[in-house]
Amino acid sequence: MTTELTEDLLQTALEVRQQAYAPFSQFLVGAALRTKTGEIFSGCNVENRSYGLTNCAERVAIGTAVAAGFREFDTLVIATSGGVVPCGACRQVLTEFCQRLSIFLVDVDKDPQDADFVQALELADLLPGNPSL
Ligand code: THU
Repeated sequence: MTTELTEDLLQTALEVRQQAYAPFSQFLVGAALRTKTGEIFSGCNVENRSYGLTNCAERVAIGTAVAAGFREFDTLVIATSGGVVPCGACRQVLTEFCQRLSIFLVDVDKDPQDADFVQALELADLLPGNPSL
């Protein structure tokens, strides 16, 4: 079942995006992850001058949640300029913990009233063929 983009999840993603450490790309990403029991965990991207050691917002959020003792999730909101999809590494990490996951891509450049402000999809659409799904 597809979950809904609630106001608290949206605001969490938008606010944590402001914490992004992205001096190399200038591309700010905020992620808000909801557990099946309703807790919300957030993450932003944390870049590194080696580039390869950069942590994506999605993986920061999932690591934070797992460290707090939560491993079951139903919704992920990602806030970016342009509403970009998660990278391949994040898709793989998400499938480690999520049998299924509703994902909402928020384009911070769009007006919240616009139809293309948010795009809804499922993790299974992003990583077809994964045996854990
Ligand atoms: N990034 C994320 O944090 N999540 C995504 O879904 C896309 C990419 C970050 C990594 C890097 O800091 C910057 O965005 C540019 O790729």
